[in-house]
Amino acid sequence: MFNPKKFIEEGVESIRKTLGKESAITAVSGGVDSFVAATLAARATSKVHIIYVDNGLMRKNETEKVRNAAKALGVELHVLDGRKRFIDALAGVTEPEKKRKIIGEVFVRMFEEEAKKLGVKYLIQGTIAPDWIESGGMGRDTIKSHHNVGGLPEKMHLKLCEPLRELYKHEVRAVGKELGLPESIYQRQPFPGPGLAVRVVGEITEEKLKIVQDACDIVETEIDQASTQGKMELPWQYFAALLPSKTVGVRGDERSYQYTVVVRAVRSLDGMTANFSQIPFDLLGKISTRITNEIRGVGRVVYDITNKPPGTIEME
Ligand code: XMP
Repeated sequence: MFNPKKFIEEGVESIRKTLGKESAITAVSGGVDSFVAATLAARATSKVHIIYVDNGLMRKNETEKVRNAAKALGVELHVLDGRKRFIDALAGVTEPEKKRKIIGEVFVRMFEEEAKKLGVKYLIQGTIAPDWIESGGMGRDTIKSHHNVGGLPEKMHLKLCEPLRELYKHEVRAVGKELGLPESIYQRQPFPGPGLAVRVVGEITEEKLKIVQDACDIVETEIDQASTQGKMELPWQYFAALLPSKTVGVRGDERSYQYTVVVRAVRSLDGMTANFSQIPFDLLGKISTRITNEIRGVGRVVYDITNKPPGTIEME
């Protein structure tokens, strides 16, 4: 049986041992894994700099949310603006694995630049077991290169320290709870490291990112509300993605030719397998109406009824 208290004691000790007298940087993304890793790091040493990279691929108002969460936890957060760097590096790229590798590389280069300024040798990351398993760890096939494992560049000037490497999501949540993090963080639904880049299928543009950001916000808001009202069980993960092709529709009396948004909601324990959630039809109808009414450029909404396997949770 997993014992979060014992894990914390051992995790803190192992970070101390790994770092020795060196200092480290750690990056938070707003998700549970990186927050737990950063909190463990801050318990282990006062020589850790916590950073957040605004890469323009995050959820709506995420930067503000992360700032507020850090403030509430009393940790000092350094926000780096990487929006232009990420969008420029991704321009014209359509292949999912290439997108992931580019994102991993830009992250690391930004971490390295920051580390150089601060004279830091280590990067503490919130990598968890499914990240390296799906990235092809231990002789397995690569399903997708998680940005913090298979997406890392070959040459890196920072040494890695990964205290959560052997844990699964539910165990990380238990550690977060034991660490005293707010429930809004340790129970937060997972969000992929490469962010909305893997929810814009194919080429990324600022217009498409804005569409998917707004659509994710609608899906999250409506499903959170329905579950609070007891209309459905809260899925393990729920979001929207954007398909690259347009389809024909009608707006008023006129023909339209617009994008399709995919709504995805799944039940899972650890993200390794998943079943699509049985969302009430009236809620799906409300989500669809809101998306097509409120988001310019979207003319069709579909619900993804694929389990994992054979699908994966994210589209890319
Ligand atoms: P898939 O799409 O492979 O996702 O079924 C399984 C879980 O992992 C999340 N995910 C990622 N998390 N870095 C992460 O930290 C990544 O590169 C990444 N790719 C997918 C996904 O949101 C789901 O919860």
